[in-house]
Amino acid sequence: MQTDFQNILNGIKPLFDASKSREQLLADICAKLKEEVYHYDWVGFYLLDENANELVLGPYVGKPTEHTHIPVGKGVCGQVAESGESKVVQDVSTENNYIACSIDVQSEIVVPVMKNGKFVAEIDIDSHSAGPFTDEDEQFLGAICKMVAEQF
Ligand code: SME
Repeated sequence: MQTDFQNILNGIKPLFDASKSREQLLADICAKLKEEVYHYDWVGFYLLDENANELVLGPYVGKPTEHTHIPVGKGVCGQVAESGESKVVQDVSTENNYIACSIDVQSEIVVPVMKNGKFVAEIDIDSHSAGPFTDEDEQFLGAICKMVAEQF
């Protein structure tokens, strides 16, 4: 399925409304992404709790998950928190350091939100499709995370 990322990005920009709380903004972005991109089945933000050295689940859309707190370094999410670099797993069955959320998930992409060179949060997307992610997903989500960074 062809995704018009530029068009979706144009639809996301107006969500950045100054009168909105950060929580609401992140929730709106999650909803929009899940709605607009066919291969995004679970979309959420994890925020870094620096003192606890763990990720805490923020707004998300999709099935509830028990993984509301993830130590830095653990799972795909924790690895991205540690490296500050995006990670794409096209087939989660091949990933050793992986935390399973649902048996429906086949692939995952995590893109960091960096503020002044420091990791502050990340967007995590699970897909029920096999190997659906391309460089375009990474660039698209990177552009969103760059805008989100201004909220931290
Ligand atoms: N699969 C993630 C855990 C978070 S859930 O996808 C919501 C991981 O390996 O870090």
